[in-house]
Amino acid sequence: MILLTGAAGKTGRAVLKVLVERDQKVCVLVRNNKQAEELLAAGAADAMVGDMEDAGVYEKALRGVKSLYHICPNMHPEELKIGSNVIKAATRNKLDHFVYHSVLHPQTEKMPHHWNKMRVEEMLFESGLEFTILQPAPYMQNILASREAIYNESVFRVPYPVTTRLSLVDLEDLARVAAIVLLEPGHKGSTYEIVGTGGLSQVAVAEQLSDVLGWDIAAEEQPLDEWQSAAEKLGMNLYQVETLIKMFTYYSLYGLVGNSNVLSWLLNVKPGSLCNFAKRDLAEEI
Ligand SMILES: NC(=O)c1ccc[n+]([C@@H]2O[C@H](COP(=O)([O-])OP(=O)(O)OC[C@H]3O[C@@H](n4cnc5c(N)ncnc54)[C@H](OP(=O)(O)O)[C@@H]3O)[C@@H](O)[C@H]2O)c1
Repeated sequence: MILLTGAAGKTGRAVLKVLVERDQKVCVLVRNNKQAEELLAAGAADAMVGDMEDAGVYEKALRGVKSLYHICPNMHPEELKIGSNVIKAATRNKLDHFVYHSVLHPQTEKMPHHWNKMRVEEMLFESGLEFTILQPAPYMQNILASREAIYNESVFRVPYPVTTRLSLVDLEDLARVAAIVLLEPGHKGSTYEIVGTGGLSQVAVAEQLSDVLGWDIAAEEQPLDEWQSAAEKLGMNLYQVETLIKMFTYYSLYGLVGNSNVLSWLLNVKPGSLCNFAKRDLAEEI
């Protein structure tokens, strides 16, 4: 059995889908019964409802489990505590393989959710566990949050300059790699950057979306204070807002650019392109 934490989020659902396609028994750790039902219907073999901040949850969830894919909820203020609790429980339960869903360039102290992941990676090194670390670039799927503005206003709006260069990855490729490192031999002790594209400016992203969708879409910078009030209206908590602002500020100063060689090697094919993602997930769903 494989335990998947943070399973009901967008990453968790993508990883579960590929593991189920590969006939794996997966136990999902989720926050509530509704999520449990959804993921059981999606093919999970077992579901456990619990709070990831509760250390006791992992002892129970890890019973009978050989491998773990650990996803910390996005922008969680207790990322270190969650990481420490799950690593301690995995060590006590003599887990065979701990796969950790980290992030591209966790070394960036200016972005707390990256820095926290680096510290969790360090805890893993010191745990004595067999591990694999995946460090994904920002997902192409994040663009789906802009669907309304793309369709209604022909604008791709981002809270950083449109010249900002970001590497992206298709979450479907990340999920394929999650299954590869969990199920195929030879990946223990590895840390892999999971990057699908070179550094794309937001203008280049908008141009590619225009090509696929068939009309002109302009990249536009949204002022941070405007982004902040919209996020607060949507109910985003203070930690998330502050952490995202730090991330956007970092992006505008330095971008976030990686290299797709490792992902190509892992998949044995070229990673999915932005155009392919847009054709599949943005164009077809209107
Ligand atoms: N998005 C990207 O581009 C990207 C790129 C690289 C790495 N990452 C990393 O990927 C990870 C997952 O991101 P994501 O976007 O997939 O997350 P997400 O969609 O926000 O999913 C998080 C899941 O965790 C659940 N959750 C939150 N707090 C919980 C708690 N205390 N106990 C139990 N469950 C809890 C949420 O449930 P509710 O829905 O009920 O809140 C949700 O199902 C993050 O660590 C992020 O930094 C993301």
